[in-house]
Amino acid sequence: MSKLIIEGGSRLSGKIRIPGAKNSILPILAATVISGKKTVLHDCPLIKDVELTLDILRKLGCTVESEGSTVTVDSSGVDSHVIDSTLMEKMRSSIIIAGAIIARMRKAESAYPGGCSLGPRPIDLHIKAFRQMGIEINENYGNLYFNGENLRESDIYLDFPSVGATENIMLAASGLKGKTRIINAAREPEIEDLSAFLNKIGVKVSGSGGSVIEIEGTDEFTDAEHTIIPDRIVAATYMTAAAVTKGDLLLENLCYNHIVPTVSLLERMGAKLLMEGDSSLRIKISKRLNNINVIRTAPHPGFPTDAQSIIMTLSALSSGTGIIIENIFDGRFRHCAELKKMGADISVYGRLAVIRGVMSLYGAKVTAPDLRSGAGLVVAALAAKGQTEVSGVEFVERGYEDIGGALSSLGAKIKKV
Ligand code: EPZ
Repeated sequence: MSKLIIEGGSRLSGKIRIPGAKNSILPILAATVISGKKTVLHDCPLIKDVELTLDILRKLGCTVESEGSTVTVDSSGVDSHVIDSTLMEKMRSSIIIAGAIIARMRKAESAYPGGCSLGPRPIDLHIKAFRQMGIEINENYGNLYFNGENLRESDIYLDFPSVGATENIMLAASGLKGKTRIINAAREPEIEDLSAFLNKIGVKVSGSGGSVIEIEGTDEFTDAEHTIIPDRIVAATYMTAAAVTKGDLLLENLCYNHIVPTVSLLERMGAKLLMEGDSSLRIKISKRLNNINVIRTAPHPGFPTDAQSIIMTLSALSSGTGIIIENIFDGRFRHCAELKKMGADISVYGRLAVIRGVMSLYGAKVTAPDLRSGAGLVVAALAAKGQTEVSGVEFVERGYEDIGGALSSLGAKIKKV
């Protein structure tokens, strides 16, 4: 396991360009399988999950090239319907590639998904929706076999606005000449970006960003070129890093509407943030922020669960007491025990955490249990007095481009070993 050694106390300053969103590039890469054409994607983040997904596409028969942040996929050569199980086990979100393969080949095969350990990661909503679409699903020895011969028009009501299930339905429906409606769809910006891409390859998708999405699929596709939306969670991470180090950062390549939940929270805590132009944000913090009473994670446009661990670090260093309620995932407080090793005063009661702000955190040896917890620990280490050793950096690198290099360029004393 690689480690980051961080000497805390440096104020971050300078500017950083926010890369494309991990949770947008992944479903859009899956969608490239559907068209059988050539797709050029710009602003792809250089992260492990993208590399893993590109390997899955290659094993399906796609020709994939990447140069810097531009990825080109030619899916004319797709000749397999099987998602590579070793790669699937590393990344749960690969299950949405099944929807894309079914759209193209009317069948798919995959292992049960693995990925980040955020409590149970069921896919019952995906399975139920697929069955409503006429897809037969059998499971044995941990593998899933999808038969989409009878793919049909349907109206699907999601019991929960699951991001992955919404994406999987959109992808499968893209290959059906007919209409599919999703009611209680996820409204995340990444859904809108997937919809924009599908419309570029010849699918007609309407309503994304709202709770009812309609997909009219096709069998005639075109080449496409698309730029991935900026990563709102990476942006939140750097905003919080500026806040805890009382720094002065300019974040470039932002979509303001996507970061409103985080901006509004930081402003309520006393931060002053200023948009410069229509895609840059300056955050300059000179004083300790104040805890606000309750932060609840919720589906977009609520406060994003992916920023919860990062905000917990900020809350741990703010004045007063804060409460965080994690409504999306079980098991998403695994960073608390690690933050307490650094001196944080946090009590966890199921999905609720009570955080009593302290004046300082102290360097310690901590381990990232998952991607976003790891990000929260890195942010904590930037502010802590003394040296912190963060193990499990490979988790953080699943979602953050060269986080050591990026933070060093902003003045952090950080090195990877
Ligand atoms: C996506 O995960 C994101 N991942 C997650 O980001 C993000 O936290 C999550 O959406 C919520 O915004 C990608 O886009 C690759 P869900 P996904 O289906 O699709 C339950 C990160 O750190 N559920 O909306 O898995 C599920 O257990 C990652 O970037 C079912 O019960 O999220 C969870 O409690 C982490 N049955 C809740 O719904 C299902 O069939 C939300 O899951 C599916 C989900």
